Amino acid sequence: MSSNIFELNDVSYAYAGKFPALDGVNLVVRPGEKVAIIGANGTGKSTLLHLLDGLVFPDHGDVLAFGEPLREVSLCEVEAAHRFRRRVGLVFQNADIQLFCPSVREDIAFGPLQLGVDEEEVLHRLDAVAGILAIGHLLDRVPHQLSIGEKRRVAIASVLAIDPEVYLFDEPTAGLDPSTVRQVIDFILKANKRGKTIITATHDLHIAGEIADTVHVFGRNRRIERSGTPESVLSDTAFLEKHNLVHSHQHRHDGSSHTHTHRPTELHG
Ligand SMILES: Nc1ncnc2c1ncn2[C@@H]1O[C@H](COP(=O)(O)OP(=O)(O)OP(=O)(O)O)[C@@H](O)[C@H]1O
Ligand SMILES: [Mg+2]
Repeated sequence: MSSNIFELNDVSYAYAGKFPALDGVNLVVRPGEKVAIIGANGTGKSTLLHLLDGLVFPDHGDVLAFGEPLREVSLCEVEAAHRFRRRVGLVFQNADIQLFCPSVREDIAFGPLQLGVDEEEVLHRLDAVAGILAIGHLLDRVPHQLSIGEKRRVAIASVLAIDPEVYLFDEPTAGLDPSTVRQVIDFILKANKRGKTIITATHDLHIAGEIADTVHVFGRNRRIERSGTPESVLSDTAFLEKHNLVHSHQHRHDGSSHTHTHRPTELHG
């Protein structure tokens, strides 16, 4: 039995059989790893996370989760589906897809209740996650009326309440102010210290150095073009530019203009 969390062998997927999203992806994720998936728009990052969460299934190739094939038919069986959902949690790119209950409280309680956690324990978890994500004052609010940053925190709380082994984060810091970005990063780092495996899809190269031991870069061909440490990948400006991950800016100084590339300069240990 494999000790990998996920193993993808030559995985391809096209929506409705005609809109390609992944093409020949190979990937191994080990227990306790922090992984960042980076790539330009439309290169397949979200699709990959949906695949790892058992929401879509490959047209070609194999996905192993915890050493077992991850197949649609096995997730049709309630017990197997619950076992899987207790181990893997996805925080969606768009929190509006994830949050659908009339109140924040119900949204956070929904996952663990569905998965058979008893009510007393759910109340305990609700209190705990509300404290960790500083959303105690939002518990009786209607989720879709919250700000983007508040929704993101609630979406993370609803996955944290399940306490999975593996967190899948899809653009967790997009649209957040700097202090909320910091809180989300701290949350990811603390969860990883508690032994959780973290896979994050992000455009934000500044956070990739901090939230990942390994970076995988998706190219326009919708497969992984390069994998390595954040330091090795993010210091290669020519590579990042080629993959539309950094851009050049024109600046004017004293009447003359010059162009230079913006690149992720801060790499955190
Ligand atoms: N529901 C869908 N139906 C048809 N095509 C889709 C669907 N969702 C995604 N795609 C296509 O699949 C490809 C990969 O999309 P995906 O959302 O995985 O990219 P992404 O890397 O997450 O992009 P972004 O950075 O914009 O979030 C894109 O070409 C997209 O148009
Ligand atoms: Mg996406």
